[in-house]
Amino acid sequence: MINSHNTQISNVLIIGCGGAGLRAAIAVKMAGLQVSVLGKRNKKDAHTVLAAGGINAAFGNVDNDDSWEHHFADTYLEGYGIGDEYQIEIMAKESPKLVTEIDKWGANLEKLKNGCLDQRFFGAHTYRRTCYAGDYTGLTILKTLLNKAESLKIPIHDSQYVTEILVNDKVCFGAMSFDTSTGERTAHLADAVILCTGGHTKIWRRSSSRKRENTGDGYYLSLKAGCELIDMEMVQFHPSGMLYPDEFAGTLVTEAVRGEGGILLNNKGERFMVNYDSDRMELSTRDRVAMANYQEIAEGRGTFKGGVYLDISHKSKEFILEKIPSIYKQFLEIQKLDISKEPMEVAPTAHYSMGGIFVQPNDHCTSIRGLFAAGEVAGGLHGANRLGGNSLAELLVFGQRAGLAAVKYSKKLKIQMRSDCSIKDAHEKINSFSKKGNQLVKPLQDRLRNIMWENCGVVKNEGLLKSGLNKVNEIKNMIKNVDVRISCKNQEDLVQIFDLEASVFSAQATMISALQRQESRGSHQRGDFPLLKDSENCNYKIKLNKNSFKLEISKNNKKPLKNNLQETLKKVQRVSNFKNKLLE
Ligand code: FUM
Repeated sequence: MINSHNTQISNVLIIGCGGAGLRAAIAVKMAGLQVSVLGKRNKKDAHTVLAAGGINAAFGNVDNDDSWEHHFADTYLEGYGIGDEYQIEIMAKESPKLVTEIDKWGANLEKLKNGCLDQRFFGAHTYRRTCYAGDYTGLTILKTLLNKAESLKIPIHDSQYVTEILVNDKVCFGAMSFDTSTGERTAHLADAVILCTGGHTKIWRRSSSRKRENTGDGYYLSLKAGCELIDMEMVQFHPSGMLYPDEFAGTLVTEAVRGEGGILLNNKGERFMVNYDSDRMELSTRDRVAMANYQEIAEGRGTFKGGVYLDISHKSKEFILEKIPSIYKQFLEIQKLDISKEPMEVAPTAHYSMGGIFVQPNDHCTSIRGLFAAGEVAGGLHGANRLGGNSLAELLVFGQRAGLAAVKYSKKLKIQMRSDCSIKDAHEKINSFSKKGNQLVKPLQDRLRNIMWENCGVVKNEGLLKSGLNKVNEIKNMIKNVDVRISCKNQEDLVQIFDLEASVFSAQATMISALQRQESRGSHQRGDFPLLKDSENCNYKIKLNKNSFKLEISKNNKKPLKNNLQETLKKVQRVSNFKNKLLE
């Protein structure tokens, strides 16, 4: 039992060292304030690297007609009208500046002969808008941000597991963490805290997330602090994850494969996207392509192993090595498959949490003063479907904005009221997990992943969701009896139990929201309610009742789009049945 803790002080504390966290930290440091970044995993390996195929910015370098208005329209309309229009407008207007900046900082994105950034097609974008570096765009952006942070001497501590946001009377004053190697506890006191912890897609059996990332800890931390979550039912299944071997099932096969001409085929050799979106084919929206893959497999037209074929073997090996080198290597190393000769087998994989912490669009502040959120952990931007390439744009734009807002808040703060009681409670909570019990965490985590895949997968229904919720509740009750052994050499049990608790609450929030939304919209597909309903043109919000410690849901109808944005949509004259309906 550890009964003491260290204390660290900074102006702004950032939790999470992926792209959003680093961009926020850089903004704070460049504004002259002290900043500290905490992460629970290796800082070079954040989920940011899995946004492989590119970053969106409406430069119009390849297709001259592109503009922020088109980027706005594509994002808003393909999000099925429930995304936050203000966030979308900000992202569409500001991403060119931030993409130019990251390239200047050394991201080395692909260039055209005239020196401008090259842009490729990504699903459902009207124009070629996605800037890229091969199929490792997220990786190069993460490395660039890390180098920049290092040059600015920003301290990044990537073995700190944050267990609690410290709050006094609805004002945030820091966070409590333990060191994942030594167990040492630290109370990090700060004027402002920015959550950049990623989402919760690791809690599905087949997921593009790697070990220990995206377990939902940011959601749980924010709920306990008093924030609300929005759109938690909106979970993006990427159409193409690897199928085998088991330990690699779900690993992302970037959309860049389709962007560069890859086609999808069923076991009859049919290019089936013609039946789902004959205009855009493989470059339809992610929700549509994922559903098409799912349906082909479910209706018996899948491969023997349970996927569909993704084929780019009609392109030359040189082309493949230039445009998608990592995918070439991935299949060669893992499956001994030469994708320049044979098709890949792929199936949907849980990839991105589109819902998240409810934030104000401009500064990404939450309902708790001094607490901000940016990147995948924040909700609202994507609505019911995220366009590929928007996540990297999001993390640069809103990472910077949240950082600057935290600076402004910190500078204005006259006095910070801290509560010793909150610090003591947070400390005791860590100790309270250390006990003997008859349950082990790992099997419970596996059980949860199976439940999410079986009961809350690509297509859901009331029966599945209700029984899923019951099963998740059983796991929640078992947490009390989990065996947690902590020694100076082993903090693993502690990490796992905190992850599990966060995952359970995130799973519940997702299923409660999915049950409530009785329609199909974008990535939220209900077998029992297959149609989109006007009455569901709303966002669902979840909060934690502090007395009962239960999650509560509320419905918020969408307000009509403000006039200038309505005009923007009309101006770019997007067409499709659904889109026309929104424009009426
Ligand atoms: O498929 C991909 O490369 C993923 C991109 C993204 O999630 O934005």
